[in-house]
Amino acid sequence: MPLRRHVESRPGADLPQDGDSRTRRPHFPVTPMTTQPSTSSLHTSTITSLPLLARGKVRDNYAVGDDRILMVASDRLSAFDVIMGEPIPGKGELLTQMALFWFDKLGHICPNHLTGAAPESVVTPAEVPQVTGRSMLVKRLKPVLIEAVVRGYLAGSGWQEYQASQSVCGVKLPAGLTNAAKLPEPIYTPAAKAEMGDHDENITYERTVEMVGEKLAAQIRDTAIRIYKEAAAIALTKGMIIADTKFEFGLTEDGTLVLMDEVLTPDSSRYWPVEGYEDALKAGANPPSYDKQFVRDWLEQAQVDGKPWGKTAPAPRLPQDVITKTAAKYREALQRLTA
Ligand SMILES: Nc1ncnc2c1ncn2[C@@H]1O[C@H](COP(=O)(O)OP(=O)(O)O)[C@@H](O)[C@H]1O
Ligand SMILES: [Mg+2]
Repeated sequence: MPLRRHVESRPGADLPQDGDSRTRRPHFPVTPMTTQPSTSSLHTSTITSLPLLARGKVRDNYAVGDDRILMVASDRLSAFDVIMGEPIPGKGELLTQMALFWFDKLGHICPNHLTGAAPESVVTPAEVPQVTGRSMLVKRLKPVLIEAVVRGYLAGSGWQEYQASQSVCGVKLPAGLTNAAKLPEPIYTPAAKAEMGDHDENITYERTVEMVGEKLAAQIRDTAIRIYKEAAAIALTKGMIIADTKFEFGLTEDGTLVLMDEVLTPDSSRYWPVEGYEDALKAGANPPSYDKQFVRDWLEQAQVDGKPWGKTAPAPRLPQDVITKTAAKYREALQRLTA
């Protein structure tokens, strides 16, 4: 069984989200604005007062001077690594609020990339509606090209791999575990963050030592596991299991390790509501999750020109009820967390 990388190896994406696809460069539908179901949703930001650094699958990043980045979370959704033409209303804002919630809770473990300054302060008045609620103004860091994946449960590609080898990303596990089983201890299964246009791949801890040195590799591993454990415990008090997650880190000029990117959102993590978990576990099924399940299920049966969609861009047009249900899932996750 080939190991999945990045979007796959990254738990939030690998199973619940992006299935068996391989990372491709984002494809932007040519006329995204015309497909917006509501005026408040944002498929692609158009901030012209700042230089565009990059459009990711979900975030549009703009340079603010040479030491900060304005990260605008759009309402784009990618599934099987293909960006849908239709935005999911509210998604960008919900992801941002969730990440902010977690940064606030986890600051005692590791510094994060937030500057504390308002995103509205670096754009023109006309651009304010595009950034409000959905943006972070962050310190521009030197990215560490390791995706720090932590898994507390056996799910998705991890479960596939376990069945074949009783291990996940080379980490040996006890015999007899079933789909969605809780692991005796969370495991760290890093992936190499690929350069633009390339695929991330699962790597061993030893490889991360070669990449960044013993001290930093251990610091990333230990910090990631600690954040996962604390976050999972908090989420559990809100009735949600964080099955696995992916963190990204960066370095300041003086070499301080800083937590960056988004943290613990349904795009980077696999969230399961506790109700439904036991039944799924007993049945050996995938627990229901707070993410793009409706979209993936619909895409699996979608037909294009009389044939199953080939999971390459462009994606078929999403039906309104799939959009509505997906938006509701993201909303529910944030509401539960912050209740
Ligand atoms: N503080 C930061 N400094 C520099 N780069 C960052 C910072 N926070 C996040 N990034 C990078 O910005 C990008 C975020 O956009 P995203 O849509 O998530 O892209 P991707 O499609 O690569 O996941 C990622 O490449 C991430 O590594
Ligand atoms: Mg990302």
